[in-house]
Amino acid sequence: MCLEGASAVHFQDFNAEVLRCLTIPNVRANFVKKQRPPLATNEMESNIPAEVRFFSGDWCEVHKLLPHVWENENPKSSVSSSEGEPCAGYDIILMAETVYSISSLQTLYELTKKCLSRPHGVIYMAAKKHYFGVGGGSRQFLSTVENDGVMASSLIAEVADGSSNVREVWKFSFK
Ligand SMILES: C[S@@+](CC[C@H](N)C(=O)[O-])C[C@H]1O[C@@H](n2cnc3c(N)ncnc32)[C@H](O)[C@@H]1O
Repeated sequence: MCLEGASAVHFQDFNAEVLRCLTIPNVRANFVKKQRPPLATNEMESNIPAEVRFFSGDWCEVHKLLPHVWENENPKSSVSSSEGEPCAGYDIILMAETVYSISSLQTLYELTKKCLSRPHGVIYMAAKKHYFGVGGGSRQFLSTVENDGVMASSLIAEVADGSSNVREVWKFSFK
């Protein structure tokens, strides 16, 4: 997203350690790869065109840290768009392999509703259709979304090689 010109990209994980040890080095590596000649580490930040931030926390409370969320139907952020309107929610939410546990599907869904820009925000979710042994899956998350009734869903891609688990990418947006 950063390399494609997004003005702000916020990463989230449950563990700060994962962000420090994997996510941040990964982001750095992608910028180094893109830029010729490679820049020294301390020069890199100033050359990243986007606002890149990292947040750790549980889905049930990470909205307290995220700057672009809705609180009680009102934007939390005081940041304004170019039209002077309060700006809340992210234009795009990307998630992969996040819907394996049935017990956290509702919490994750509630978080995405708080974080998605209205009315035009879009969520892309990549997941296995079913996670054997834990019970979650893309279709379980889809049921959670459909039961609430405020978002439309569409299947964007399906990867089925006939020998391993079926993987899907779903798109969700407000109706
Ligand atoms: C299987 S990993 C997938 C990681 C990465 N998206 C990928 O595709 O490689 C599951 C991710 O969901 C996050 N996660 C699971 N339950 C969570 C929760 N209750 N609160 C916050 N994050 C959670 C974990 O921190 C982890 O990043």
